[in-house]
Amino acid sequence: MSAIVIYRSKYGSTKQYAEWIAEELGCEAHDAKGMKVDALLPYDTVICGGGLYAEVIAGVSLITKNIEKLEGKKLIVFSTGLTPPEYREYYDKLVVEKNFKPEMLSKIKVFNFPGKMIIEELSLPHRAALKTLKKIMTAKTNPTDMEKLLIKLCDTSEDMTDRAAIAELVGYAKNAI
Ligand SMILES: Cc1cc2nc3c(=O)[nH]c(=O)nc-3n(C[C@H](O)[C@H](O)[C@H](O)COP(=O)(O)O)c2cc1C
Repeated sequence: MSAIVIYRSKYGSTKQYAEWIAEELGCEAHDAKGMKVDALLPYDTVICGGGLYAEVIAGVSLITKNIEKLEGKKLIVFSTGLTPPEYREYYDKLVVEKNFKPEMLSKIKVFNFPGKMIIEELSLPHRAALKTLKKIMTAKTNPTDMEKLLIKLCDTSEDMTDRAAIAELVGYAKNAI
């Protein structure tokens, strides 16, 4: 049985998780940029990781748009993001709803890991996007949970990547290998 880890990562946190997972599973990790679904067909287990950007898991469409072609494989998706622990349950649900059709959830197992955002490392467009978002959200008189969360995310500058977080995913994948 064989496995591959693929990832899309702008600032390196998803790449780091992908490499940790690949090391644990004794398989390879590849940047999914420009990758076609055919490259995944030789593997029994496909693990796809992406950073969260406006609740979208970077690169996940390679899996979700090709779900029929990947039929019969063990599919695992993980995201990395900055969700504070008190919002995790609420936010994980939101991310799942935004990235997957309900019928896909019986075929794909989803995990979310704590990510990294160091303000000084961000591209200018990303810094500008966060600044604008924060301005809009703080102007709200009665912010919703989501709006409060977004304000918190905009102010985060922290590396929360943690190798221990991959244990459950690795255990799940190993059962399939
Ligand atoms: C413009 C922008 C939007 C983001 N949107 C989200 C988001 O919706 N949810 C979240 O949890 N984190 C969000 N983040 C934080 C990233 O998901 C986090 O830094 C992640 O670890 C990045 O992964 P990467 O280093 O592999 O690119 C955002 C960061 C930026 C710069």
